[in-house]
Amino acid sequence: MSTVTPHPQDSKDKSDSEPKRSRVPHAAKLYHNLVPAYQAFWPAVAGKNIRAEVGAMQLPEGARVLEVGVGTGLSLASYPRHIQLTGIDLSESMLAEAQTLINRKGWDHISVQPMNAEELEFADDQFDVVTSFHTVSVVSNPAKMMRELVRVCRPGGKILIINHFRSDNPLIARVVDSAGNVTKRLGWRTDLELEEVLRELPIRIDQRYKPNPFSFFTIMKATAKPDQV
Ligand SMILES: C[S@@+](CC[C@H](N)C(=O)[O-])C[C@H]1O[C@@H](n2cnc3c(N)ncnc32)[C@H](O)[C@@H]1O
Repeated sequence: MSTVTPHPQDSKDKSDSEPKRSRVPHAAKLYHNLVPAYQAFWPAVAGKNIRAEVGAMQLPEGARVLEVGVGTGLSLASYPRHIQLTGIDLSESMLAEAQTLINRKGWDHISVQPMNAEELEFADDQFDVVTSFHTVSVVSNPAKMMRELVRVCRPGGKILIINHFRSDNPLIARVVDSAGNVTKRLGWRTDLELEEVLRELPIRIDQRYKPNPFSFFTIMKATAKPDQV
């Protein structure tokens, strides 16, 4: 299990020189500052969908699972203990919360490590299942992140995404787009289209739906590289 130690680029240390700070990826700084607020309200908003969808996957014994943008570890309790889960995130502050939870629960089937979702440091086809919740609209290059998710997932492996995507209904899309000026201050795009990030990827969408008609979120379940199976 890896241990997360504070990373100089994600540190609050005021003695950090400005040039070093300017190299910090936007999302890492932003999510460092958001940890307390995030812990306070986010589990209620997002936890239910994650629990339901991870549970429904019925992950088999020994499955190698990667979660991209694992954050503070909201999802971790949803995974069964008989799998091997690797979680990655750009923000060391978010990961430190996840690591504390892992240590407290004694979850030796889970490890977390700092990594950029757009440049995953894993070989091709290394995971049976790749998941990502509420992250693809936060990274700087969503299409690049999705390419990476598909690359590291084995042929026939499963991909589960929960995220907000732009509505197909033009009226709803326009209303939500207008909220985008506020949410983009949180580093979060509201106008991302699923088709935009999946274009030309070797992936088959198996299911795409909303958990309820009023939900802001979409669930996408897909199979990676189906032609190679
Ligand atoms: C809205 S939070 C979602 C966290 C978690 N998946 C959840 O649902 O609670 C978005 C997460 O994406 C992470 N993130 C943003 N850009 C990233 C990148 N390029 N690579 C990896 N993680 C990134 C943030 O640090 C943050 O933890």
